[in-house]
Amino acid sequence: MVKPISREKNRSQKSFYQITFGCQMNKHDSQRLAGLLVEKGYKAAPHLDGASIIIFNTCCVRGSAEQRLYGRVASLKSLKRENPGLIIAVGGCLAQNEGRKLIENYPHIDVVFGTQNLPRLPELIEKAAKDSASVCELSDEPQIMTTELPLLRKSSFQAWVGITQGCDNFCSYCIVPSVRGREVSRYPAEIREEVEKLAGEGVKEVTLLGQNVNSYGRGLNASFAGLLEELSEIPGIERIRFTTSHPRDLSSDIIETVASAERICEHFHLPLQAGSDRILRLMNRGYDQGAYLGLIRRIREKIPSASITTDIMVGFPSETEDDFEETLKVVDAARFDQAFTFIFSPRIGTKAYHMDNQVSDAVKSERFQRLVKAQEEISLQKNNLLLGRAEEVLAEGKSRKDPSILSGRTRTNKVVNFPGEESLLGKMITVTIKKVHNHSFSGVPVN
Ligand code: SAH
Ligand code: SF4
Ligand code: F3S
Repeated sequence: MVKPISREKNRSQKSFYQITFGCQMNKHDSQRLAGLLVEKGYKAAPHLDGASIIIFNTCCVRGSAEQRLYGRVASLKSLKRENPGLIIAVGGCLAQNEGRKLIENYPHIDVVFGTQNLPRLPELIEKAAKDSASVCELSDEPQIMTTELPLLRKSSFQAWVGITQGCDNFCSYCIVPSVRGREVSRYPAEIREEVEKLAGEGVKEVTLLGQNVNSYGRGLNASFAGLLEELSEIPGIERIRFTTSHPRDLSSDIIETVASAERICEHFHLPLQAGSDRILRLMNRGYDQGAYLGLIRRIREKIPSASITTDIMVGFPSETEDDFEETLKVVDAARFDQAFTFIFSPRIGTKAYHMDNQVSDAVKSERFQRLVKAQEEISLQKNNLLLGRAEEVLAEGKSRKDPSILSGRTRTNKVVNFPGEESLLGKMITVTIKKVHNHSFSGVPVN
């Protein structure tokens, strides 16, 4: 019989286990946290049980994200009682928002650290362990551009590259600007250097990240279109993706650059949020329905093969049935490949939290279901157009259920599963699309 490894032994190896909520920015931050900890001699633990440090990287964009975190943290109480040496650290957006309150409500938390305090985690862990007392560190000011930290990537051929931090848009429903701070762009030369280094390490696909990549370069005399052009010339990088595009800042130059630079993938994630001009104004989005649909038309004209995905919210304060129908109208006209749909969740500290005429849960839920149904039909129709087509995918990973099945994404960001050897991972493969599923496709490699 195999003897179970004792917690005591694992503790001496100082291992950490991460649980990450939220967007790609947070996932990217978790890679940096892991890089930092490995540099300090910690090891990544394969499971939560047995790890000497458990780190939560949190999100607070909607109430549901918060509730999930609280549930997970509460469930660790008995583990901490059994193993008082265990360190529980909670960082990221929710930690920035709640601060010490987290420790007051969950005294088994040892470390709370804000979005700008990520580089300090190793010191904070040591301090909490040494003093046997909880610590909380939050900073409102960016301490260093955290993109300069070491990083532990899961994939050897794909990488995220942060190009901006924070957000200046203050959409009236959104908590992100208050937990991530003001928008700051990295210098183009620094980004170029990072991408060149990644190419040298064998990375083939980079995804440029920012809450609003289109406004990149403000205050630096640089532009997103210029950055895309520059990065698309770096040898070895075969695909460049980017997210998120704010409709107000999507210039014709950006569309032209995506159309002309072969290595830039023809996929736009362009959050609509709502279709009604009145609601868009209340949301402080800076565009109206006409301008949004104009962008869709321009993208389709210049890049007919482009995929367009979006985020849509229902139940913003005062949204009427007529307003909601405007959203359905845009969904119908825009024919998105996919939409991430959300129910408005009032966030303390945002303008929309205090607005009159909050929509009832029953109405929100009914609208949500209608929206999902409308979009699902469109997604299916669009996906069916791919049947029988040959598409280039980057083989990214193996299926967990069946290791003889690989998975990859098309240039337009659609997931395709196909039979293949592990040796194909990291290679560009052309596959013929054979079957359409709800959120993916099955295909076979073209010989
Ligand atoms: N910076 C990105 C996305 C940030 S959050 C952008 O501007 O699009 C991701 C999505 O969460 C948003 O697009 C929005 O649709 C949704 N979201 C943000 N705040 C929300 C709230 N209070 N309630 C419900 N959904 C919200
Ligand atoms: Fe939030 Fe708006 Fe900024 Fe996106 S652009 S992060 S929705 S404030
Ligand atoms: Fe991302 Fe959630 Fe923070 S969406 S920026 S992790 S609040």
